[in-house]
Amino acid sequence: MQTTPTESKSATPSTSRKLPPMLPGGLPLLGHAVELRRRPVELFQRGRDRFGDMFSLKLPGTPQAVMMSGPKAHQRFFRLSDDDVSMREVYKLMTPIFGKGIAYDAEPEIMREQLAFFHDALREARLRTYAAGFVEEAEDYFGKWGDEGVVDLYKVGNELTIYTSSRSLLGPSFRKNLSDEFAKLYYDMEAGLNLLAFFAPQLPIPAFRKRDKSRARLGELVSAIVRERRTKGASEEDFLQTLMDATYKDGRILSDDEMTGLLLAIMFAGHHTSGVTFAWTGILLNQNPQWLAKLRAEQDTILGDRDDLTLEDLRAMSGLENAVKETLRLYPPIIMMMRKVMKGFEHGGYWVPEESMIMTSPAMAHRIPEVFRDPNRFDPDRFGPERDEDKKNPMGWISFGGGRHRCMGIVFAQLQLRAIWSHLLRNFDFELLEPMYEPDYDRLLVGPRMPCRARYRRRKRRAVVPVA
Ligand code: HEM
Repeated sequence: MQTTPTESKSATPSTSRKLPPMLPGGLPLLGHAVELRRRPVELFQRGRDRFGDMFSLKLPGTPQAVMMSGPKAHQRFFRLSDDDVSMREVYKLMTPIFGKGIAYDAEPEIMREQLAFFHDALREARLRTYAAGFVEEAEDYFGKWGDEGVVDLYKVGNELTIYTSSRSLLGPSFRKNLSDEFAKLYYDMEAGLNLLAFFAPQLPIPAFRKRDKSRARLGELVSAIVRERRTKGASEEDFLQTLMDATYKDGRILSDDEMTGLLLAIMFAGHHTSGVTFAWTGILLNQNPQWLAKLRAEQDTILGDRDDLTLEDLRAMSGLENAVKETLRLYPPIIMMMRKVMKGFEHGGYWVPEESMIMTSPAMAHRIPEVFRDPNRFDPDRFGPERDEDKKNPMGWISFGGGRHRCMGIVFAQLQLRAIWSHLLRNFDFELLEPMYEPDYDRLLVGPRMPCRARYRRRKRRAVVPVA
């Protein structure tokens, strides 16, 4: 017997359970895939407007794709265990880059151990070292700008965060000597991330060959640093050192290949996400100049005439923190998260069967007016103590995901963005040059569409009166 679009025969054949309602529309065979690629947020919004927290989409390759939105549905999504839902299927295009048996390709128990190594790399003492690195890199990068010029904010964000990332991952001397080669290898690996990589990651096409060659070369570079540090007995304050010092529960140390793969996992998780957030922050602040003024006043209060930023200074910048958070609400770089369902479950009166793909979308859910007042407005004060819109709706704000797989780099990312924008607020004025800045859904990590230009002018610093 055939099942109707809203009914399914579950694992228990005698009970028929209600599936989340199917959004009408879509094409034969491709279903909603074309719309998902071109106008994902509109598509999700249409579904939510019509059906609320849970609805289904037709997508190729999965018997059932279910969108879950709103704080309650997010809580359910993020609290499902790794045995109930799998990330492996979703991230399998990353396997040729991270490596076999590394990160999402590992068994859940091993993946948990591997991800836990990063906790140590992100502990307090290390954050101090990274923060000093962010400040130095920002001073160095923007120090090379003239008094006035035109830049592309998207490019600036991605370039600068390559430097901050390579330094935090592999240390300042690698950053100084090899970051250009590193950037090239990384971009070649990234170019191998396309739809084909989901389905046939080993096809002998030039993009995949380049990806594999670059991965192998990066492996050599990492092995060379590991060898050198071990020979000299040297120890550094970076992610690689943490991995070199780490052991699995059974006492085994990590192979060079595992270290390379895990460093790449961090790089892919943290680089573009931070780069595009940098660009959106610049756009939104300059579209809302009252906020520029407020944040400059905050810089004055915290720093006065000082330029020597500390971790404590960065932590004290609560206005800037809220502005970045609000930027991430309006333009989250990860617009959609997915899991494959390994064990069917029930939510909100609907049954989500095994083999379904479940999805959630910060980009759509962050504009739910019952959660965020006047949601299309840039209003960092919504995160201030008087309104606390995020805390009042747990898991309503999900730019960094939630639950057991919540982003591990939240503090790192926030400190980095604050260090960079603190420098720019104090030293430059910007003028936006594009008639419109819109999200570019052609990219996996969604930033503003290029060109994304702005004119900068160096600000006159307060004159220092020489002591007679
Ligand atoms: C603005 C910047 C960033 C954003 C918006 C962001 C967002 C996210 C999101 C949404 C997830 C969850 C993915 C899912 O559930 O499928 C995630 C996971 C993760 N992020 Fe970030 N991230 C950022 C920066 C970083 C940085 C800088 C690092 C490292 C230093 C990092 C490391 C990680 C790791 C390791 C995970 C996997 C956690 C797990 O699976 O248990 N992220 N990130």
